[in-house]
Amino acid sequence: MMPPVIAIDGPSASGKGTVAAQVARELGFHYLDSGSLYRLVALAAQRAQVSFDDEAGLARLAAGLDVSFDGGEARLAGESVDEELRGEACSAGASRVARFPAVREALLARQRAMRRLPGLVADGRDMGSVVFPDAALKVFLTATAEVRAERRYKQLIEKGMPATIDILLADLRERDLRDANRPVAPLVQQADSVLLDTSAMGIAAAVAFVLAQWRERVPGLF
Ligand code: CDP
Repeated sequence: MMPPVIAIDGPSASGKGTVAAQVARELGFHYLDSGSLYRLVALAAQRAQVSFDDEAGLARLAAGLDVSFDGGEARLAGESVDEELRGEACSAGASRVARFPAVREALLARQRAMRRLPGLVADGRDMGSVVFPDAALKVFLTATAEVRAERRYKQLIEKGMPATIDILLADLRERDLRDANRPVAPLVQQADSVLLDTSAMGIAAAVAFVLAQWRERVPGLF
């Protein structure tokens, strides 16, 4: 039997990363932040001066990405790059490199290799549709664009990074459009996923919701 997967997909800044990481911690599961892989490809491309339009060049970078996650901290060729990865340049770059089928294909095996016992919580855009279509639980976690822009704003300000709410909202909408309309692995709610709208919900309630859904599916374990 394959280790169980909880797939949490949704748009930018919906809080899915925080929720997924906490669910993983609660269950003692591994955690895959698939977005960070696309961010890493964008960063590696910037550094190697590979154009965001060069599909073959980007796919080569993606396949050879020298990445490690040290206690959740991303390292590119040994160097800690967490802060850079979260910046707006990598956010926008990630959604541009993620358009390409060859880039997505190059990252597939790396993502599936994270599926280890006792289980995996994976967050992204296509966890339930492409990477782990047999996930035991699929959640589509979302919130209105305004609420998401507000959350991203607070996050950046807390980190001492400059931010303007109007620009963040425009960027989010642009990224949502690109992610939802691309021909490969677009961001859409799967028919077999559970919708979780967190517009008026805090992190703790969202985590509790996912855990309750999980317990409903595997009652024997609890
Ligand atoms: O944190 P946020 O949701 O803003 O971004 P992220 O999850 O780190 O993903 C960054 C970008 O990578 C997204 O805008 C997507 O274009 C892309 N991505 C993807 O295509 N497929 C995934 N499974 C995860 C991210």
